Amino acid sequence: MDKILVCGKKPLYGTINVSGMKNAALPILFATVLVGGRFSIGNLPNVSDINETLSILKQLGATVIGEPGNKDNITVIDTTRLKDDLTLSPQRSEKMRASYYLIGAALGRCGKASVGVPGGCDFGYRPIDQHLKCFSALGATVKQENGMILAEAPEGLKGTRVYFDVVSVGATVNAILAATRAEGFTILENVAKEPHIVNLTEFLNFCGAHISGAGTDTIKIRGEQHLHGCDYDIIPDMIEAGTYMIAAAITGGDVLVDNVIPKHLESVNAKLMEMGVDVTVNDESVRIRRDPDKALQNTKVTAMPYPGFPTDMQPQMCALMCTCQGTGYITEAVWNSRFGYVNGLARLGAQIVVNGKMAVIEGGHPLSGTTVTAVDLRGGAALILAGLAAQGVTVIDKIHLIERGYDDIVGKLERLGADIKRVSFPG
Ligand code: EPZ
Repeated sequence: MDKILVCGKKPLYGTINVSGMKNAALPILFATVLVGGRFSIGNLPNVSDINETLSILKQLGATVIGEPGNKDNITVIDTTRLKDDLTLSPQRSEKMRASYYLIGAALGRCGKASVGVPGGCDFGYRPIDQHLKCFSALGATVKQENGMILAEAPEGLKGTRVYFDVVSVGATVNAILAATRAEGFTILENVAKEPHIVNLTEFLNFCGAHISGAGTDTIKIRGEQHLHGCDYDIIPDMIEAGTYMIAAAITGGDVLVDNVIPKHLESVNAKLMEMGVDVTVNDESVRIRRDPDKALQNTKVTAMPYPGFPTDMQPQMCALMCTCQGTGYITEAVWNSRFGYVNGLARLGAQIVVNGKMAVIEGGHPLSGTTVTAVDLRGGAALILAGLAAQGVTVIDKIHLIERGYDDIVGKLERLGADIKRVSFPG
């Protein structure tokens, strides 16, 4: 029953340090199962999806030393000896989406996977047909039974060519995991190009894999059985960075968002500049300034796969667009149903019309605080941002959804001068 309370209208000032990227860390943690060895992983974010994944690794028999967020910022994981049975129950796997990375990892390691159907944010129907198609193409028999996905390749996986019908981050990760130890060559076409795909392949190559082409449409893998552990740092979280950039813009503040890879933020920077935000790009930081007396201009945003504007920044951008002059348009080109959070923004006074995969935002209507409920991770972050811009107190419910992916969001905003706190209410 914990909630976040935000009292808005306070410009933010100072420096914020961005944590490691959840969506890059998750594939790498499951890749430690595939490889088998001792790893020293730096910069794991202290968020519940990562803690849940570490707990899954322990359940599978791994040793884990160093909680995320420890003072050295390093977690040592040993997956050399795991249990014979790498099964993950539906109750555990439905706690998050990335649990399905265990299918690719376990298939690659021991030719057998038995994992419950995954959970994750509710964006409507989330098929996994492209994952299953790839496992089958690599020679596994795949079936779904009693809430479990069962995949088996007793003779081992064999390299192949797979063309993905849709660009999918998850299917690309699972395909890489499964193919890394497969016999022979695998060519994956029409793959996702997100920075976390590049991060995963770099990690696996440090472990002795032979993967090329990450960051382009086509990835080539020469199967390698002899892999080993390594030391590796997770890249900074571009979505967390973008969220704080919008926090600075929406409050009319001056914030240095530090420890970022500016290349990953190009689409967000471009939109913010177009709207009238002052953006200065440095080597490893971005400074966001906005005069609180100067209204921003509304814009058009299309959320699409990288390097397009990220769908995981679409709700936060929508919150900012509610405060801008004129009409704004958002087209969501990745998910069928990612506007659930709009109800919360409307309760705060925003004027938004949603029609299928498009939202039209009539900017400039004043926002005022009330109680709202997070419906998913980034939608919940959008409610915090809107609360920072609203008159009075906004109370945000179901904050465990936000804490799946934001490391100490309340503390970080508080240190920038936001009037925000996390409060426990008796359940
Ligand atoms: C990842 O989800 C992220 N999650 C999501 O971030 C992010 O929104 C998404 O990629 C897109 O960038 C993690 O990394 C854990 P997809 P994923 O497979 O991999 C369709 C967040 O807020 N599709 O790239 O599940 C699918 O329905 C989360 O941190 C198929 O049709 O997304 C969607 O329309 C939320 N068949 C599109 O592809 C498949 O087999 C992209 O989905 C797989 C996907």
